[in-house]
Amino acid sequence: IKNLKKFPEGFLWGASSSAYQCEGGWNQDGKGMSVQDLHEGTAEISDFKVTSDFYNRYKEDIAMMKAMGFKSYRFSISWTRIIPNGDGEINQSGIDFYNKVIDELLDANIEPIITMYHFDLPLELQKKGGWLNRDVTVPAFMKFAKAIFKAYGKKVKYWLTINELNLLVLMNMFGQDFLSPTDKKYTIGEAFQIGHHLFIAQALAMKELHETFPKCLIGPAPNISSVYPASSKPEDVLAAQTAAVFRSWYWLDAPVRGEHNPIVIKWLDELGFNLEIRDGDDEILKAAKPDFVAFNYYSTMTVKAWNNESTTSKKSDQQQGLGIPNMFMDAKNEHLGKTEFGWSIDPVGFRVTSREIFERYRLPMLLTENGIGVREELNSDMTVNDDYRIEWYKDHIIEMRKAISEGMEFIGFNPWSAMDLVSTHEGFQKRYGFIFVNRDEKDLRDLKRYRKKSSYWYEELIKNNGNNI
Ligand code: BG6
Repeated sequence: IKNLKKFPEGFLWGASSSAYQCEGGWNQDGKGMSVQDLHEGTAEISDFKVTSDFYNRYKEDIAMMKAMGFKSYRFSISWTRIIPNGDGEINQSGIDFYNKVIDELLDANIEPIITMYHFDLPLELQKKGGWLNRDVTVPAFMKFAKAIFKAYGKKVKYWLTINELNLLVLMNMFGQDFLSPTDKKYTIGEAFQIGHHLFIAQALAMKELHETFPKCLIGPAPNISSVYPASSKPEDVLAAQTAAVFRSWYWLDAPVRGEHNPIVIKWLDELGFNLEIRDGDDEILKAAKPDFVAFNYYSTMTVKAWNNESTTSKKSDQQQGLGIPNMFMDAKNEHLGKTEFGWSIDPVGFRVTSREIFERYRLPMLLTENGIGVREELNSDMTVNDDYRIEWYKDHIIEMRKAISEGMEFIGFNPWSAMDLVSTHEGFQKRYGFIFVNRDEKDLRDLKRYRKKSSYWYEELIKNNGNNI
């Protein structure tokens, strides 16, 4: 590309976090327990009780974000701070906490971007069947939605429904436990039924916000990645298409087009599962009309046609090892390097993915996660020279700028994460932040904050609205 376009004025440069991974204060001021509070950690890995202690240190963190020139900060609301048992009384201290956070952000000229729900279902709802029990959990989610829209809808313009709805369902099939850490695993049919209930909850929330606060904007926030075929063999290309439907498109077709992608429905049918879709559900999905597509992008996936080789011994997590018998299996991509935690590094794939999203849905895009998880320590002079992170973001932001130059619409870039926080499954050792939090896996040290080298680089980039890249 010869002439790169400038980033649009008002572009939302910032970073992300989620409540259960950074707030701590797991039982402070009336907060109820969420399914994540069941994680006790292991001998090596931290639990979620203190995390980065944002609950008690939000002012300090927001001051650092301000110093970095953030235009936006994406964070999630802990459902159990607002409604401790999921569907009962509202806890005023919870409402007050996020009011304070939002006011602090607005004072610093930082646009809050709220994720309504990020992996932390109230435990009491899980005990009643969780997302599989539609008649309990969907109305409970709507009660929570109405409470937070009422409390913050006048001040907060940007909203995201459910973080990585797709991975909530898919990871259940592939061995991780975002849905119910201690429960039995759900069957495939149950997991996709849960997916449908999440679609309904998400669609109802979008409609509710549009009706009550017409100036607010809202969209889904799945984890999307393009899928490459391992070769030009037609069977591999077909496998890659299928994998993309399972990994990405099924989860955006529902909120954006109001449709269930038929390839998944056919597969469920052949396995003997029929989704229970009630009268009126199609109308609910069609009426949602998101304003943008928010998405998390870490890396692409490469697959080949299923060939009965065993994949069970391979590590699988949210970015690797996915496969579905008789359809597709994970394959090596020899063109891509890997992070120390095994995730492929693919900045060009970010452009590929954003093109595919825009081609399919023609909605503005908001990047809500991207980043590199690394083991890091403070130098003796309290610095962290994270040149690899600078490199990572430079490479990804250049690709985003190219995508914008060729006509894709982006409204913001909010990578993972603002400050170091507890990873979903690998504890505090896997750090993503611009801000170093001084603790390790088990030793809380003093929890002090230090800006990493990348934060100064990002500050300069934001000052230039990204156009210095
Ligand atoms: C996304 C999640 O899956 O990736 C975050 O939305 C998560 O909650 C992030 O932390 C990075 O994954 P991990 O497993 O390295 O923490």
